[in-house]
Amino acid sequence: MAELNAMLDITDLGADGLRRVLHLARSPVSDLGRPLEGDGVALVFEKPSNRTRHSMEMAVVQLGGHPVYTRGEEVGLDTREPVEDVIRVLAGYHRIVAARVFDHGHLVRMRDAAVTTVINLLSDHSHPMQALADALTMQREFGELTGRVVAWVGDYNNVARSLAEASLLLGMEVRLACPAGYQASDVELERLSGLGAAAISQTVDPRAAVVGAHAVHTDTWVSMGQEDDAAVRRAAFADYTVNTSLMALAADDSIFMHCMPAYRGLEVSADVFDGPRSRVIVQAHDRMHAARGLLTFMAGGS
Ligand code: CP
Ligand code: NVA
Repeated sequence: MAELNAMLDITDLGADGLRRVLHLARSPVSDLGRPLEGDGVALVFEKPSNRTRHSMEMAVVQLGGHPVYTRGEEVGLDTREPVEDVIRVLAGYHRIVAARVFDHGHLVRMRDAAVTTVINLLSDHSHPMQALADALTMQREFGELTGRVVAWVGDYNNVARSLAEASLLLGMEVRLACPAGYQASDVELERLSGLGAAAISQTVDPRAAVVGAHAVHTDTWVSMGQEDDAAVRRAAFADYTVNTSLMALAADDSIFMHCMPAYRGLEVSADVFDGPRSRVIVQAHDRMHAARGLLTFMAGGS
């Protein structure tokens, strides 16, 4: 299997790579061998994390490697030392460097240094590790995803971008419902429409997007680093809560998904988040299985 030197976005995998990663994610650990035996994996976090840190650490251990967690301020990307110096040094210790950063450009510079394998653990631009888990959870629910419909309600943010990419590459229809000022641009919609045979559309009306949808996704209205804009954002998204009346428009077998952390009463009502259609906990657990699939793929394992 070909090694991939960076996964900054889902599109780095392509459709075939994405399907392969999801296959590996569904495979028993014992079938994967130990492709990281004796290897280090650096996990650098400039922002807080529960799911991403734990799922990555455990996936690395399951594959025989050793994860080393470091807080962003200890590394100091472009503050303590230049990004290029950081990655060239870490490359001597670790087979893979994975990072959660404020500035996606720092990941691009790590990749362009071309000294080790780089994985995006969330940036201002995208969250591909989340989208791998999202796809896995939807496959778990529906089997083959081609022709299924994903509705995204809320901010066209890092999570939305990666989910849209993964869904389109898997042949799903994607419908975005986002308020003015928080939408995908026309250029972005054009780019996304080139990824799959199925359609991508955008509306300001959550009801129009959710009608007949199979998976209804949302995320916080205030991402990490946007706290100063919280009041403005909460006003802009006031009509975008995913609640039972919105979910009633979705397909009979529809599910609700959220990458978490979630804010009950804001982007999702408590009865939907904690209700029978919610798959948020299995989705969170799928982060580890997806991470194991991706790491195996990146390490060239079987
Ligand atoms: N969904 C997600 O990335 O969660 P954490 O921020 O807890 O890692
Ligand atoms: N959009 C959120 C996702 C958190 C996992 C953020 O960037 O904070």
